[in-house]
Amino acid sequence: LFSRIDMAPRDPILGLNEQFNADSHPSKVNLGVGVYFDENGKLPLLKCVQSAEEKLMSTPKARGYLPIDGIAAYDQGVKNLVFGESSEAVTRGRVATVQALGGTGGLKIGADFLHAMNPAAKVLISDPSWENHRALFGRAGFTVESYPYFDAARAGINFEGMIAALTAAEPGTIVVLHACCHNPTGYDLTPAQWDQVIAAVKERQLVAFLDMAYQGFAEGLAQDGAVIARFVAAGLSFFVSTSFSKSFSLYGERVGALSVLCSDKDEAARVLSQLKVTIRTNYSNPPTHGAAVVAAVLGDAALRAQWDEELGAMRVRIKAMRQALVEGLKAAGVTRDMSFITTQAGMFSYSGLSKEQMVRLRSEFGVYGTDTGRMCVAALNPGNIGHVCASIAKVLA
Ligand code: LMR
Repeated sequence: LFSRIDMAPRDPILGLNEQFNADSHPSKVNLGVGVYFDENGKLPLLKCVQSAEEKLMSTPKARGYLPIDGIAAYDQGVKNLVFGESSEAVTRGRVATVQALGGTGGLKIGADFLHAMNPAAKVLISDPSWENHRALFGRAGFTVESYPYFDAARAGINFEGMIAALTAAEPGTIVVLHACCHNPTGYDLTPAQWDQVIAAVKERQLVAFLDMAYQGFAEGLAQDGAVIARFVAAGLSFFVSTSFSKSFSLYGERVGALSVLCSDKDEAARVLSQLKVTIRTNYSNPPTHGAAVVAAVLGDAALRAQWDEELGAMRVRIKAMRQALVEGLKAAGVTRDMSFITTQAGMFSYSGLSKEQMVRLRSEFGVYGTDTGRMCVAALNPGNIGHVCASIAKVLA
């Protein structure tokens, strides 16, 4: 039966974890996957999460099936966070939100729904984009192409190229946009550039699909999420996938969501009904624990404030590591200007290293980043940064 089945290539991001775990290098460092580790190299368990869990444990509940679209309080918490509790979109019931299996799950539900609605539509992703975007939308049945984004020469964004591609796109084309902390480059659009992107989306009748997996890691929850209000103000209907994997350090709980802004309450009810069909025919309904924890934190003013503070501490530490990386590389003898690292936002730095250099970093020094040169600066700490800088200096020499 399976004699013709080919071996699939290893996943370009998660596959690195397997390789890393099997590596016996004594000073190995995993800068591959987008995961935040604290200054001691440990995965944090946030205090707000512990408090919410204690609260939940104090009144233990049996685990029945959740509704297909998840915990109502969780979905409401997501709407409030993403669109604003008193926003017209939320108060008038124009947002359809479903609990999803991480941000990836939110993207997949949206992709399946969009494909059922318009199978001939093309999907445009940024060049480069998160490795899984192309595969995920491709598997959902779409033809996936890209719009220019990263410009190595200017260590930033090829914005003219991006706008030209959007302006040339067919009406109905789905455009996947990174709301903040662009993965993998770390280069985000300015508010003025967002306005131009929104104008192009509107003018060309494109379908915007915002991927917001890193809200809070650039400047703060409100600042990073401000782009959503810009899309709302433009009168557009659009998709947003969100994730609490990173911002709550709840990776293994798979807590994400898909929100779809519709033109009115009736439309939102119809869209929600179709999203539920997509979920039911994929995995029936979502799991309880992670979403219950997040709902408990978002629904309690003190825990919500504590979350904001803990997320802020992660953000500040990442920025300090960016600065330390620039200084450490210089001290290790790297002569090329690496100061762009501090102008990037979020967990990643697109280092500019080639595939060959990244492979050498892994095989000779046990320093893991993706083949594209992406490194997760959120995994750097005072104990490993010296080895990372010395190793990068050697492959650049
Ligand atoms: C990443 O880009 O490393 C993260 O989003 C984790 C993943 O699922 O790829």
